[in-house]
Order: sequence, then C-alpha cells, then structure tokens
Amino acid sequence: MTTRRSHDARAVITGAGSGIGRAFALELARRGSRVLCADIDIDRANDTVKLIDEIGRGEGTAIFCDVADVDDLQTLAERAPELLGGPTSLMINNAGVGIGGKAVGCIGLDDWRWALDINLRGMVYGSELFLPQLRESGRGGLINVASAAAFSAAPGMAAYNVGKAGVLALSETIAAELSGTDLAVTVLCPTFVQTNVAADGRITGEALKVAEALMRRTGKSAEQVARGTLDANDRGRLYVVPQFDAKAIWLVKRLMPRTYTFGAGLLHRLQPQLATTETDSAAATVTTAVSATTTARKRIPEGV
Ligand SMILES: NC(=O)c1ccc[n+]([C@@H]2O[C@H](COP(=O)([O-])OP(=O)(O)OC[C@H]3O[C@@H](n4cnc5c(N)ncnc54)[C@H](O)[C@@H]3O)[C@@H](O)[C@H]2O)c1
Repeated sequence: MTTRRSHDARAVITGAGSGIGRAFALELARRGSRVLCADIDIDRANDTVKLIDEIGRGEGTAIFCDVADVDDLQTLAERAPELLGGPTSLMINNAGVGIGGKAVGCIGLDDWRWALDINLRGMVYGSELFLPQLRESGRGGLINVASAAAFSAAPGMAAYNVGKAGVLALSETIAAELSGTDLAVTVLCPTFVQTNVAADGRITGEALKVAEALMRRTGKSAEQVARGTLDANDRGRLYVVPQFDAKAIWLVKRLMPRTYTFGAGLLHRLQPQLATTETDSAAATVTTAVSATTTARKRIPEGV
C-alpha cells in the first residue's frame, strides 16, 4: 500500500451503483484499488463494475446489500476480506435516499423509519461493523457521506436532516476516538450534487421542483466531489464541505443561529414563488447573510 489511503486500497462502498458512490468506485479504481461495490440494486452495481473494467486499472466486484438490513451489512463485513484479499482498508458509507416536502407531524412513521433506517442506521452499523477491519489494516480510512442538511435545518426536510446530523455526530466522535492512530475519518457535507437522489427518493410537491432546479443549476459533479473527498481523506481531513453555499450556511448558523432560523422559515413561506422563478433561494439568503459577516469568514470549516 502507498502512503495515500485512497491508492491501492481495499475499499467497500455502499450505494456504489449510482451518483457519488459510483464516482468513488471509479476514482478508486483509477488509483489502483480493489473495490467492493455494494448496492440494493445489483444491476446498477454490476454496471459500475463494468465501468471499472473499462478503466483497465483497479478491480471491482458487485455485491447485493440493503444497508437498512443489518444482516446484509454483517454479511458484507464478513465477506469483504475474502473478496478484497485482506481486511478492508477504506470504508465508504455512502448509500442514502432523499426525502422531503412534508413538515414534522405530516411525514408519517413509515417514511421516518424508511429514511432513518437507510440514512442513519445504515451508516451507524456500517461504521460499527467495519471499524475492527480498518484497525486491523493499520493504515486506512472511513468516509461517511452526510450532507449540508446535517446543519442547515431546512424546513420540510426533517427526516433527511436528522439522519445526516446523526452521521455528522457519529463521524466527529469516531474521529476523536481514532485520533493518534493511522486511520482517518472524513465526513462529506455537500449541498447539491448532480445524481439520481432527488428523482429516486420520496420528495414531494414543491420540494421536488426546488431540489431538481437547484441540483441542475448549482449542483457539482459527483466526480469532482468524490475526487476531492478521497484527497481530503488522504490528507487526514475530517470535514469536506465542497460548496460555497454549504460553507456559508454553516458560518451563518453558527454566528447568528436565531437569525438563520428566522430566515429559513421566511424563505420556506415564500418558496412557491421563488421556485417558479427558479431562484436559488438557499444561496440567496445565505449570501445576503454572509455579506454582513464577511469578517468572520476565516471560521468557515475547511473543505475541498
Ligand atoms: N446528490 C446530492 O445532492 C446529495 C447531497 C448531499 C448528500 N448526498 C448523499 O450522497 C449519498 C449518495 O447519494 P447520491 O446523490 O449519489 O444518490 P443516487 O441516488 O444517485 O445514489 C444512491 C445509491 O444508493 C443506492 N441505495 C439506495 N438505498 C439503498 C439501500 N437501502 N442499501 C444500499 N444501497 C442503496 C441506490 O440504489 C443508488 O445506487 C447519499 O447518502 C445522499 O444522501 C447527496
């Protein structure tokens, strides 16, 4: 293994059949890694492996895994060393689903359960079950894909926000527990990335229109985000906050939490008009708020 964790790694990626997970898989293969591509949709995972074969470097294996099912995750952890030729050195908890459009009280327990089982429990158990292997591999990494939703508290997004906030707390805690070791924890917190997450999720009404418009207009490419996150893990960075709007949300929320919540509520009430003009509502509020606080910009967390 080289000194960089993402090179010649033995990697496991959940949700590797599409979007950011597929981009991680292809980039890791370019870096000479063996990649176990886990997904609930085995056809998509097989397509990712075909793309790896076309690269002609690295190696990919597709495997079925529903991260909401702890038995599937346990099987994945048990089979990984045999399929990768040694203990997993890089675990990427990436599989996730979009949910939004309803306020708390209208979401329904089935949707809460569905979202938290995949977006939170899947990453909690993925971390718990793979950490012994990461420790055994000596030098390696854990990447958890959260979201700017972890700290943005956007109305109508509670079921998503809560899961991602849990992933952020989980990752920060593991990073503290692993400090002084050769294992690096990275938590990815993007705003919009161009993937299938909105179309495939349970996002209803205006929220879906807003999410799709923002993804189209402001979304980064999954490839850029995956590359930057792997480089950040190589350098031992905890936070990856790739976009300016996410950094601005973090800053404003920390400096002016009540003003932030008031602004978020106001925007939510105005959202139908804003959505029809495809205005980048989140970025607009944040940019206004940030212009009043430019002197404190050094406190924005580091990102790629
Ligand atoms: N795209 C964005 O704007 C954005 C922003 C912030 C965070 N994220 C997060 O990025 C991660 C990847 O999402 P994406 O945007 O690439 O979406 P995507 O829909 O393109 O890919 C998600 C993949 O996860 C798989 N998946 C869904 N449920 C699963 C389950 N129960 N078990 C295993 N696999 C499952 C899907 O089949 C799919 O291949 C998610 O955790 C998402 O919350 C995405």
